[in-house]
Amino acid sequence: MLKKINVAELVLGMYFCGFDAGWLNHPFWKTRFLLKHENDLEQARASGIAYCWIDISRGRDVMAVVEDDRMTVPSGAPRDGDEDAALAVGAIVARTADDPAQEQAIALREHARELTRSMFTAARMGKVVALPQCVDLVEEIACSVLRDPTGLLSVLRLKLNDEYTYLHSVAVCALMVALGRTLGLSESACREAGLCGYLHDVGKAFIDDDILNKPGKLSDEEFALIKRHPELGYQYLIQNPDMPAYACEVCLHHHERLDGRGYPDALAADAITQYTRMTAICDVYDALTSERPYKQGWDPADALYQMASWEGHFDRRLLLAFVKTLGIYPVGSLVRLESGLAGRVIRQNPADLTRPVVQVLHTRDEHDIGSNGVLDLMAWPRTDGIVQRGQDANPAS
Ligand SMILES: [Fe+2]
Ligand SMILES: [Fe+2]
Repeated sequence: MLKKINVAELVLGMYFCGFDAGWLNHPFWKTRFLLKHENDLEQARASGIAYCWIDISRGRDVMAVVEDDRMTVPSGAPRDGDEDAALAVGAIVARTADDPAQEQAIALREHARELTRSMFTAARMGKVVALPQCVDLVEEIACSVLRDPTGLLSVLRLKLNDEYTYLHSVAVCALMVALGRTLGLSESACREAGLCGYLHDVGKAFIDDDILNKPGKLSDEEFALIKRHPELGYQYLIQNPDMPAYACEVCLHHHERLDGRGYPDALAADAITQYTRMTAICDVYDALTSERPYKQGWDPADALYQMASWEGHFDRRLLLAFVKTLGIYPVGSLVRLESGLAGRVIRQNPADLTRPVVQVLHTRDEHDIGSNGVLDLMAWPRTDGIVQRGQDANPAS
């Protein structure tokens, strides 16, 4: 799980995943590694680069450092030059780095991103969309989601600038499949929903990348250009006579709203199809929660809470099913527990969505929570519960 931090916050035991800068400015020959040597820290600080990325599932989190002075340091805590100890603390804050399911999810993420990049490039070159390739990829994504509903989604949250649109397409596809399953759709309908999600933003292939990836506020002209992507995508998809009508429909109308205030056609609620309503939810959720180099994504639980408060935007029944799909505290959400511990949700308990499994971010006494720092809030006798969600639940944030 990647996290953007200030370079000044780097300490031994963190798993470094690159600077938030071009690789030419990079002082290291490796881009990803466990920080074990004081020398590495000095080089990082001397680089003059303000921000970098760390993987908190493979090393220490900032939180553990902030608390170090006050907490009971575990016997495996890192000391200068103590490499094994640094690794041991990494294990406290995280699930195992050698998780084969996560490796599979990462491999699928890379594969899907490259196929999608090619699909967008072909669109720009005026080639008709290759439907069989899209269907095959949706099948792979669907199999992954049905096997492990959260694995792929959790590795799709971080999106670098040049891959955002591609990974967003893949993420919306995966969310659609998962939502379809919650709704009790047939296997084939789940895949249809996945195809809709995958192709919903294909019209962005025809919008300038500089506008699409602009970090700051868009001008009125730029926003007007971006708002053309549903129609551009629709015009592109209908060039393929084999393209299902439902996918073209979703592409054209995924920015419509139930209260008629959407675009491009300001459709009334009963004119918006179920696949389109589903896509609107998955699309906004992924856009809100995506981690970008220039902005931190919304906490997943906060995003669901906010979306539920927007009157007239989404279909309430489908939004409830979406919450049931991801959990009230989706994987990746920050929570504060009754005991005062802060943690990140790593798994749902389908029998009670208010009591997920939590990875504790730090502890004053590791023996309270077991050596791997994982708390199952469904465990009996009951030991803890959630009292706060979102970024504010983590005092280090
Ligand atoms: Fe869109
Ligand atoms: Fe989108």
